[in-house]
Amino acid sequence: MEHIIDIEHLQKHFGDLNVLHDVDFKVEKGEVVTIIGSSGSGKSTLLRCINLLEIPDGGEIRYKGSNILDAKMDKGDYRSKVLMVFQSFNLFNNLNVIENCMIGQIKVLKRSKEEAKKIAMERLKQVGMQEFANADSTKLSGGQKQRVAIARALCMDPEVLLFDEPTSALDPEMVGDVLAVMQDLAKQGLTMVIVTHEMQFAKDVSDRVIFMDKGVIAEQGTPKQIFENPQQERTKQFLSRFAAR
Ligand SMILES: Nc1ncnc2c1ncn2[C@@H]1O[C@H](COP(=O)(O)OP(=O)(O)O)[C@@H](O)[C@H]1O
Ligand SMILES: [Mg+2]
Repeated sequence: MEHIIDIEHLQKHFGDLNVLHDVDFKVEKGEVVTIIGSSGSGKSTLLRCINLLEIPDGGEIRYKGSNILDAKMDKGDYRSKVLMVFQSFNLFNNLNVIENCMIGQIKVLKRSKEEAKKIAMERLKQVGMQEFANADSTKLSGGQKQRVAIARALCMDPEVLLFDEPTSALDPEMVGDVLAVMQDLAKQGLTMVIVTHEMQFAKDVSDRVIFMDKGVIAEQGTPKQIFENPQQERTKQFLSRFAAR
């Protein structure tokens, strides 16, 4: 079984605050893993470590077998293959929609402008945003911005997409459009790691659900195992708090 990402003994602290304690986390090619858990449990820090936005204090992160924390590793290549989609979209406000989708292809992948444009249009079409190709990215709704952010990531031919609460900043009526795009990507076999509070979505889309609590993976399993038959008391408590909302 090929693990595209294989993390062992991951540690991260901020000053005295120990945020990740000895986390082991593996992702297979084509797998959709969702991460649930209370605010402050370390979900974002785990994703940010995987993406090297935070440098871990200990442990190993192997990508296709190589430890990316090794000083000799080319981190640029890794960063262009394992991409993050943020809660706050992080579009380049000075660029229009299609330019947002072209710039990484041109600068990082060294594609020609014509090729980048062609691929950008295909990806925008995939997320239902082709009609907005020349729109000012600051004028879009949150749901539209997030779909452009996803298209921009797809333009890089990612091996893994990491999503950190991609729908948490959206008005409720926009959430469905973004989740539908992600569901479609899952069906196509894209490898995804998704931090989410959308429990129904997590049930529908995940191959595996991870429950994080206080900086550890408290429990993991299939959606059926986690949502219908959780084993740990803290998983049960978390899920019951959710059901009550
Ligand atoms: N850059 C940082 N500096 C200091 N503390 C941080 C930083 N990032 C996160 N934390 C703290 O680490 C803990 C886990 O945060 P986070 O990974 O964002 O949790 P989650 O995404 O599950 O809500 C929180 O207590 C948070 O305040
Ligand atoms: Mg978070």
